[in-house]
Amino acid sequence: MAEGDRNYLISLFRTIPGFPAKNILFRDFVPVLADARAYALLINALAQALPVSLDDFDYIGGLESRGFLIGAPLALKLGKGFIPFRKAGKLPPEVYHQEYTLEYGKAAIEIEKNTIHKGDRVLIVDDLIATGGTAAAAEDLLKQAGAHVAGYSFVMELDGLPGRRALGDHPISVLMGMP
Ligand code: PRP
Ligand code: ADE
Repeated sequence: MAEGDRNYLISLFRTIPGFPAKNILFRDFVPVLADARAYALLINALAQALPVSLDDFDYIGGLESRGFLIGAPLALKLGKGFIPFRKAGKLPPEVYHQEYTLEYGKAAIEIEKNTIHKGDRVLIVDDLIATGGTAAAAEDLLKQAGAHVAGYSFVMELDGLPGRRALGDHPISVLMGMP
């Protein structure tokens, strides 16, 4: 990504200290969505920086909710199907269910059993990796289905947190490290 484009995107990110819990520096790319040029820049940059080749994955998996805002347009652009990894309780049965810990609490995510099959390869997409708990839970869900993580694409990685260590040796692409 050109330096000017990167700086333009970063200028739109918001940083909110103390949200949603004390001691959290909340990083938010959501203002980018209101700027059509910036949103297209962001999706194009993710498409350029894929951690694996197009032949190496069958689906894009987006992690609710900010991961949907990136994963779905990226899937359309790349000609791949999109699988929503939803917060627990939103999908009708039958689901795979996985609990996890993230930077500011505990949660659980689910995928529909009908949408994922043994051997499927999924590129997991999210806005941000902090502890890596959410992204690792996505892999645990896929394993329940006999499916696989092909790689991970993130917009931001929080420096100083051990997020990557939770993701084994899967290929990872990150657009921006955040202090
Ligand atoms: C945020 C973010 C990632 C996750 C990263 O989601 O979008 O999914 O936290 O944290 P971790 O690496 O410590 O697991 P959040 O659960 O806040 O949900 P949201 O996208 O609906 O805001
Ligand atoms: N998810 C986990 N940690 C976060 C942070 N610091 N900012 C935004 N989303 C997050």
